[in-house]
Amino acid sequence: MDHKRDIFSSRRAAIFAMAGSAIGLGNIWRFPYMVGEHGGAAFILVYLFATVFLSLPIFLSESIIGRRTHLGPYGAMAKLAPGTPWKHVGLLTICSAMIIISFYSVVGGWSVDYLFKAIRLEFLPERSEQVSSMFGSMISNTWLPILCHTAFLGLTAVIVVLGVRKGIERFSKISMPVLFVLIVAIMCYSLSLPGAGEGVAYLVKPDFSRLDASAVASAMGQSFFSLSLGVGTILTYSSHIRKSENLITSGLGTSLFDLLFAILAGFAVMPAVFAAGIEPGAGPGLIFETLPYIFSSMGVQMPVLSSVIAILFFLTILIAALTSSISMLETGVTYLVEEKGLRRRTAVIILFGFTWALGCLCSLSFGPLSGVKLFGKTIFEFCDSLTSDFLMTLGGLLFTLFVGWKMFRADVRDELTSGGLYPANAKIFKFTYFLIRYVAPVVIGVVFVTNLLM
Ligand code: PHE
Repeated sequence: MDHKRDIFSSRRAAIFAMAGSAIGLGNIWRFPYMVGEHGGAAFILVYLFATVFLSLPIFLSESIIGRRTHLGPYGAMAKLAPGTPWKHVGLLTICSAMIIISFYSVVGGWSVDYLFKAIRLEFLPERSEQVSSMFGSMISNTWLPILCHTAFLGLTAVIVVLGVRKGIERFSKISMPVLFVLIVAIMCYSLSLPGAGEGVAYLVKPDFSRLDASAVASAMGQSFFSLSLGVGTILTYSSHIRKSENLITSGLGTSLFDLLFAILAGFAVMPAVFAAGIEPGAGPGLIFETLPYIFSSMGVQMPVLSSVIAILFFLTILIAALTSSISMLETGVTYLVEEKGLRRRTAVIILFGFTWALGCLCSLSFGPLSGVKLFGKTIFEFCDSLTSDFLMTLGGLLFTLFVGWKMFRADVRDELTSGGLYPANAKIFKFTYFLIRYVAPVVIGVVFVTNLLM
């Protein structure tokens, strides 16, 4: 199909866009909680291992496939392995991205609502009674979360309609530095609270006794989710990278930004949780229930500062979630534009409709549809677990197998060295190729099968 393709204007632009995809809700609510749950610094160590030995090989595999062909997952695999079923793997990963964006934008919608709540000063101490019940009543409401989900998905769609260069690149270039400034500001505030030390200890004290098999599987899953792997988004973004760019640098740069942000988020969230004397809770509850309560109790002494921090905090979550959701939508849009010949705007409208409808079901599963269960899970939980526990791992596994066993070694080498432009990469090629061909697929495969059987 003949179409004009945008290319990221610079390496920095590509890294910012990919870091934008990577940095999201996963860093802010999942990472801090998991670190504490699974043994503090000991978990961070395993997480680092998983990132270097498993996630980076998948990241590079996706980058190689995308940049080699300058096509999305379906087109790229069809081109590199013509006449084989591999293109269906591409399609499967695109479907995974569409399922993720459906429930992800429900949580994105909650952050829209909470941003407005913070602006309306609803977390002030005189309203502390309502703060604790606010979250439960908001998510179980029928219309408000759907309205916010629509607004969040609408914002995502507007950015994607503008295109890779004018929409995604421009938005990521502005929002990435802003995100880092915001999270550092919140972290400084959080660390200055009396009793913050306990939260710091929760994050940094290594407790190796809690490092069991499930901690290792969680570290791996978290690393995949956080780096947006296995669903074709990194592949799609990489297809807009210039031939002369260094793929290894972009991969390392993106992973480092993502890790740094997760750690900063940990130090922004946990000290505040402990300063308020609260047990850290899991998942969305941590940021939508516990933190507003903290803002409200801190507001007794410092009403202005705590209100400003509350607004900045929910703004951070909203921007981080948006830069991730645009990458998911772009993956689907690329498919419809490249393979079905649709105009970008039409493709966005179609996918908006589909993900909006599925998102509405996910949203309603906290309220009127809470009784509807699939394999014992609500619709939201089912979509989350289907993708995070199953499809992302499967996608990652298949991408490494494709690059390690289906593509020609010479082509892989050519991509990793950018046609010989980076001779230093040739030196680490053997090791990287070994990781992609053997280590990553074997380890991911074992974890995948174990998860499936359990
Ligand atoms: N990496 C994102 C986060 O941490 C989530 C994501 C998953 C984004 C898959 C794109 C694709 O929130």
